Order: sequence, then C-alpha cells, then structure tokens
Amino acid sequence: MDFVEQLKSQVDIVKTIGEYVRLKRVGSTPRYMGLCPFHTEKTPSFSVHSSHQFFKCFGCGVGGDVLKFVMEIERLSFVEALKLVAERNGIAMPKREYSDPESKLRGALTEMHELAAAAFQSNLMGPAGADARRYLASRGVTPEHTAEFGLGLSDAAGQQLTRQFESRFAAEQREQSGLVMKRQESSGFFDRFRGRLMFPIHNESGKIIGFGGRTLRPGDEPKYLNSPETALYRKSYVLYNLHRAKDAIRKSDYAVLVEGYMDVIGVHSAGVRNVVASCGTALTNTQVRALKRHSGRIVVNFDPDAAGANAAERSIQMLLDEGFQVRVLELEGDLDPDEYVKQHGADAYRARLEKAPSYFHWLADRARKKFDMRTVEGRIQGFKFVAPAIQRIADRLERFAVANDVANYLGVDEKLVRDHFSQGSAERRNVHHGPQVPPNERLLLNSLLGSEAARLEVIPPLSQMPVVERFVTKRIFQAIFAMHGDPAPFRFADLEGRLADADRDLLSAVIFADEVLEEEKAHEQASACLRTLQAEDPKSEVAALRAQIKAAEREGKLQEAIRLAEELDRRARTRSSTQV
Ligand code: UTP
Ligand code: MN
Repeated sequence: MDFVEQLKSQVDIVKTIGEYVRLKRVGSTPRYMGLCPFHTEKTPSFSVHSSHQFFKCFGCGVGGDVLKFVMEIERLSFVEALKLVAERNGIAMPKREYSDPESKLRGALTEMHELAAAAFQSNLMGPAGADARRYLASRGVTPEHTAEFGLGLSDAAGQQLTRQFESRFAAEQREQSGLVMKRQESSGFFDRFRGRLMFPIHNESGKIIGFGGRTLRPGDEPKYLNSPETALYRKSYVLYNLHRAKDAIRKSDYAVLVEGYMDVIGVHSAGVRNVVASCGTALTNTQVRALKRHSGRIVVNFDPDAAGANAAERSIQMLLDEGFQVRVLELEGDLDPDEYVKQHGADAYRARLEKAPSYFHWLADRARKKFDMRTVEGRIQGFKFVAPAIQRIADRLERFAVANDVANYLGVDEKLVRDHFSQGSAERRNVHHGPQVPPNERLLLNSLLGSEAARLEVIPPLSQMPVVERFVTKRIFQAIFAMHGDPAPFRFADLEGRLADADRDLLSAVIFADEVLEEEKAHEQASACLRTLQAEDPKSEVAALRAQIKAAEREGKLQEAIRLAEELDRRARTRSSTQV
C-alpha cells in the first residue's frame, strides 16, 4: 500500500471533518450531516459517510475523500494536505520527498514566520523590550497574556530578519514572505516591521501566517502595519484568534466579534474565550462562513466610533444574509471592548454581553430614541425604520415572527405589520435535488458496495445481462465489473476515481440515499435484486417465445403460432417504449 492509502486508512474522515464542521449522525447509520462549509445554506446538504470515508455536498457538488476535504477547506496543495493530515495524526511522512513548487514555497514561508515570531518574542523579553513591556503593562496586558498571544517586538534597526533569512532562504522566497522587503536602489533587503509591537496572526489550524505591528510612538502612521497578502496569508479568509476561540465558540454556541487585536486580548482576559476579530474591516463572505462552521449565533461588539458603526452595519448585513442570529453589544461611554474591560472589569463586561439585545431589538431601541413613541405616527415611523432589515430575513416564518415581536415592542398594531409584510419578499432558500437514480439500481449498487460475498455471487451473471445497458448508473456498474477482474481488494475510493464527474454525482446520490446494511443483509439484498432482474430479463422470455413459435409452426398449429407472435410483438413494443 502506498503512503497515501496507508494514511487514509488510518485517519477517520468523520473526526477530521468534525474539526471544521459540526456534524450530526443520521440515526445509527454510518452517515453524518452538517451545513456545507463550501457554500451558504440553511438546511444541511453536506454528508459524510464513515464506512466509505467519503464526503459529498448535494448543494454545491463538492465531494471526495479526507485529503480532498483538507485541500479545499485549508486551500492547500495535495502534498500539503497530506503533510497536515499526517502531522495531526502523528503519522510520520516517508523519507522520500513529497513536494511541489507551491508547497515548497509555503513551507519556506511558514518556517520564516516561525523564526520571525521567535525573534520578536525574544526581543520583547530582552533589554530592548523594556519600553514595550511597560506599554503592555500600562494597557493591562499581563505577561501571561503576552506569552499566550505570542506578542513580540520587531527590531528597531530593521536588520534582524534580513540577516537571519539571508543564508537560509532563496531571494525570491524572502521577497514573497512579506517579512522583509527588497531595497529599490540596491540588491539588499530590510525588515518590513521596525520597532513595532508584534501580534502574530494564525490560520485556523494554528500556524502563524502573518503579523500585525502596532506602533509604540503615539501619532505614528500607520497605527497598525500588517503583513501583505502572501501565499500563506489570504486576508479575506482569516479571522484573528479563530484558532484559539473555535472550541469555545462551539461550546457556548456563539461567537463574539470585535474589531481589533487589543480588543481580542482584552475580552479574552475577561474570561470570554469565544472572541474573534475582523481586524478593522467589514467582514467578508469567507470569514463569515468560517465562523458558521462553528456556530450560527454571534454578538457583534464594535467600536462606537463612526468607522466602527459603518463596519458594524456592513458586517451585520453580511451575517444576517448568511443566516446568523445576530445580537449587538453597544458599550456605554464610547468605550471599545478593550477599554471597557480595563475600566469596568471582567464581570461587568460579561454581564453586558449576556444582556446584549438581538439586532432587531437594538434597531428598535435606536428607533425609540429617534422618534416620538408617544404618538401613533412616531411609533409607525419607528417601525418603518426597522422594517427594511426585517424584510431581508429570508425565511418567511422567521420574518413574520420578528416583525410581530418588533411591532409589540414598539407598540404598533399587528394588523399594520401583516399588511406591510403581506407582499413578502422573495424566498431565497434554495432547495437542492440530487440526481435521480431508480430504486432498484440504488439498492443493487449499495448492496454490492457493502458486501464482498454479494460481489462474488452477483457480478458474474449481472455483467452478462443486457439490462445493465439501460441503467442510469450503467457506467458505475461497468466500473465495478472492470474492478472485479483486478486482483486488488475492492476500494470505494478506487471506484470513485474511475468515474467521470456526472457518474460520481450519481454514486454519491446512491450511497447517501439508503440505509446502510450489514454485510449479510447486503448480500441477501443483492441476491434478491439479481433474481428480480433475471425474472424481468426480456432476453430469456423473448428467446423462449421464439422457440415456441418455431415449434408451433413445425407442428402446424397456426392459431397458436399467431397468438405467440402477437405476444412477442407486444413485448418488443413495451420494451422499446420503456427504453426511452
Ligand atoms: P483601532 O484603531 O480601533 O485600534 O483599529 P485598536 O485595535 O483599538 O488598537 P489600540 O487599542 O489603539 O491599540 C481596529 C483594528 O483595525 C486594524 C487593526 O487590526 C486594529 O486592531 N487597523 C487599524 C489596521 O489594520 N491599521 C490601522 O492603521 C488601524
Ligand atoms: Mn482600542
């Protein structure tokens, strides 16, 4: 067995995918369902099959084995996915170099980021770090949190990383790291980050992929200098602190979204571990989906300033469109989360967090302040202020429930609400249908996939029967027949690999359609399917009829011969009409 097969046989696809997607087992079957991480959906169409070690989304069509999943979700090359899965499961990679240019570059970049983080941390701890340490203390960041978040200090002279990397990495790798920059006038390099407080940024699996660097001199621009996009760092995919927060997000079933690095550290130090940051920009679709894999509920706690409010508005829209239940935490006194925790303490912050109203109630509160709630007109204006947001809720039932709730809250007549929403907005829910496979083909395929004994008994006669030619799944059967001749043991992944895309989709539809039987039951079912097909097989009947007609003619039984010929004709006609 080659290394890839060996690795795949040792890791469990359900456990691996379960790290990224909340999966629910379907009854006591080997099937699991969840929300697809690759497209937006409200009802699960993402399935994982533990006995075939295979996943498939019937919404967007993506499917494959555990390595394919890791490649897609981590956006890695095949070799990198292999390495990551091996590493996580404590399986040693073979000595032989598995490598491609893409993974070589990213491997070098990863190493440079680790070296940089170590250098930054030791600068901060050393004599050059005294001012920076004082600054952190003044902001209430303890040495424990400094260590936990891997904070550091970049060299003020801008030569440290340049020197460290010079002899170890090729110039073009260094150039693509985002950590050192090429001089314009000469051939040398210099460090991008100089004398800044450094925040390492990790991907979801905990590898450092970039840095944010805060100036330590008030008024210096920019306040934060960030790594550029590199082969490691794709900004639109990354949320700061997600790798630390994801377990807590699942446990509490909600996330707290803040704006900045310091806010994350402040909120985390208040004992709220499920916190992530968007890093000052409005959320992207891909960031929202990364969160959605862990929970569908969120509290948005942005800065109260104008930029914060704008980012919040756009982010909230994005979250609502992706089906999140959104609550809004607005802290009094114009404080951002970090300052609030420092001034009022951890308990006060957690209390405010727990009481954060839903987005719609928060909007309604704003409406209350804006309009005169003592008059009917004011209340109606208030309701109209909230209505456009309600209108965007995709689910009809939920839309009505929220509308009624807000109407009650603002003291508006419910009938008015019904009128306002009776036109309703277009349903945006997509219903996905997988390809259709007739039940007999499905049962037969599933039982053949599930039992070696069934394959031994059924394949030889079945492969001779013309009826297979008319199966929707004929190419899957033909692939199974072809594999039956091979000495290698039957493997689902091999079957998959032999099929074209359309047939793969059919195969997925088949394996996720029925209950999975035990071997013995599968064998029985396969035999039963074979008998049914044989009984229906027109070839044997037609042959028998022809023989009878000949015999009747020979014996001069003309009436009988005509009757049989008509019968044959009728068979032929029904056959050709079922064929189309
Ligand atoms: P803020 O200006 O609110 O900073 O920007 P902050 O996080 O509260 O930092 P402190 O408290 O002043 O130290 C919020 C986030 O926006 C991004 C950073 O990710 C920052 O944490 N940002 C801000 C930048 O990327 N560049 C900037 O120049 C400013
Ligand atoms: Mn701040």
